[in-house]
Amino acid sequence: MLKNNIVLIGFMGCGKTTVGIELAKQNNMTFIDTDTKIELEEHMTVKEIFNHFSEKHFRQLETNQLEKLLKTTNNAIISTGGGIVIREENRLLLKKIGTVIYLKTSEQELIKRLQNDTKRPLLKQQKLDDAVTNLLTLRIPIYENLADIIINTDGKTVENITKEIKRCI
Ligand code: S3P
Repeated sequence: MLKNNIVLIGFMGCGKTTVGIELAKQNNMTFIDTDTKIELEEHMTVKEIFNHFSEKHFRQLETNQLEKLLKTTNNAIISTGGGIVIREENRLLLKKIGTVIYLKTSEQELIKRLQNDTKRPLLKQQKLDDAVTNLLTLRIPIYENLADIIINTDGKTVENITKEIKRCI
C-alpha cells in the first residue's frame, strides 16, 4: 500500500515537533513524535534511556518504532529524533513510511536555539558549539540525501514553513 505520511527529519532544535503539530492540525492529520512514543512506552525520558542504558539501546528503540509505524500508520505527520537517520535500516524504513521532509536550519541558528537545553544528552558530552558542529558535519549529507523535500527554516515563522511544505506536497 502506498503510504501518505509525511516524515519530518532534521537536527535537534530545527522545529520538527512545532511544525509537525501545526501541519497536522491544518491538514486534519494525526501527529506522531517518535521520541514521545518511545518515552511513553518505556516510561522513561530520552535522557534517562541514554543514562540508564546507552545511545545504542535508544537507536534500537527508534528502529522498533519505525517498524511499527510502517505497519500501522497512514495519514500522519511524523516528527523524528534528530539522530534517527544515522542507521541505514532506519533510512530505508523512513523512505517506506512516507514523504521525507528535511527542515534545514543553519548551524548558528541551531546553536542559539539549543543554548539552554537540558533534555538532549548528546549536547552534554562536549561544548555546545563543538557538539553541534561535529554532529552536523556528519549528519547534513545524510539528511540531504534522504530528503524528498528540503525546506530552509532560517528566519521563517512556523506559519511560513507550513505554507511552504503545503505548496511542495
Ligand atoms: C537526538 C535528538 C533528540 C532525541 C535524542 C537524540 C539526536 O530528538 O531523539 O536526544 O541524536 O539528534 P530531537 O531532534 O527531537 O531533539
